[in-house]
Amino acid sequence: MDSYLQILEKDFLNRNDIITLLSLNKEQAKNLFKKSEEIKLKYVGNKVYYRGLIEMSNICRKDCYYCGIRRSNKKVSRYELEDKQILDACEYCYKNDFGSIVLQGGERNDKIFVDRISNLLKEIKKLSNNELGVTLSLGEQTLETFKKWKEAGVHRYLLRIEESNRDLYKKLHPDNQIHSFDERLESLYYLKETGYQVGSGFMIGLPFQTVENLADDLIFLQNFDIDMVGMGPYIEHKDTPLYKYKAQLWSLEERLFMSFKMYAVLRIMMKDINIAATTALQTIDPMGRERVIRFAANVLMPNVTPAVVRKNYQLYENKPCTDEGADDCLDCLKSRLKLVNAEIGLNEWGDSKHYYNRNKTEDN
Ligand code: 5AD
Ligand code: FES
Repeated sequence: MDSYLQILEKDFLNRNDIITLLSLNKEQAKNLFKKSEEIKLKYVGNKVYYRGLIEMSNICRKDCYYCGIRRSNKKVSRYELEDKQILDACEYCYKNDFGSIVLQGGERNDKIFVDRISNLLKEIKKLSNNELGVTLSLGEQTLETFKKWKEAGVHRYLLRIEESNRDLYKKLHPDNQIHSFDERLESLYYLKETGYQVGSGFMIGLPFQTVENLADDLIFLQNFDIDMVGMGPYIEHKDTPLYKYKAQLWSLEERLFMSFKMYAVLRIMMKDINIAATTALQTIDPMGRERVIRFAANVLMPNVTPAVVRKNYQLYENKPCTDEGADDCLDCLKSRLKLVNAEIGLNEWGDSKHYYNRNKTEDN
């Protein structure tokens, strides 16, 4: 078997290599992070692109066992931002040179919702002179809906597979049509077919999840030829069914360390994709996002949701910055990013290079 240092010199990592790298200890992992930093700088550079995150509603048709805003959680007070609040947040991003926004929310697919999003997309494009890039993260939809939204101006979509192992997926979701693994996968294929830049990802350190599962999750992203990734540590929420497995979980510290290794291995496997430094990292470590930006990630999603509703969008507990306005966060972000040598790619969409590279190859 190759030593981990030999593995780090390989062009292609096989499943055993990935498992070896994910099993490194803190001292050994320093070499992994160094390698991934080298690759990051070579292929995507030191720029980090902002996407202003707008959590438009916590009303959700789904009931995932891990999620704090699942429909059965009666303790959550449900909200829906008005169009004006959403457009104001977009305007804020535009004025602050963000380049892009992400519109995220609980999953809905009724006609009123679908039409409302189409309309919002047109308004966002109008208010920004067509300049703001838009990513949607609104769950599974039909091919028609994806096409409609694309025509209305969106060009990127995030849909986490959450866990790529079918059996484990089943343990994390109710056993019914609304939570079908196949339909989620199908949605990802629809997105690709429609020409979106497609993002996916999963949680790290879920109950029952093994290092082998995590290696397979990374391989899933590679096989799917994904353009963007959002992944982060699982953080238990006391008002969810999975909370009862709390005692079996890796410690928060271990989940964070495993997440760091996952980011690094992913960057080595998929050199030119966009990788987002996600909020869940920040929940465990205030510098969590910046630390992965140093060696792997190149996208950051500052939360620009109006502060009045932010505490109601708790997918997990202790979500950071839930009581601050957007401005507070911007200043501290800027200085923290400087600490990890990242330059902010202002006024740029910062699209996935991989998307263009894969389309180039497909055309030839
Ligand atoms: N811990 C971490 N991430 C979570 N998400 C949902 N619940 C949790 C949790 N308890 C993630 C899911 C979802 C994204 C919006 O938030 O991966 O896709
Ligand atoms: Fe599925 Fe929130 S209910 S992620």
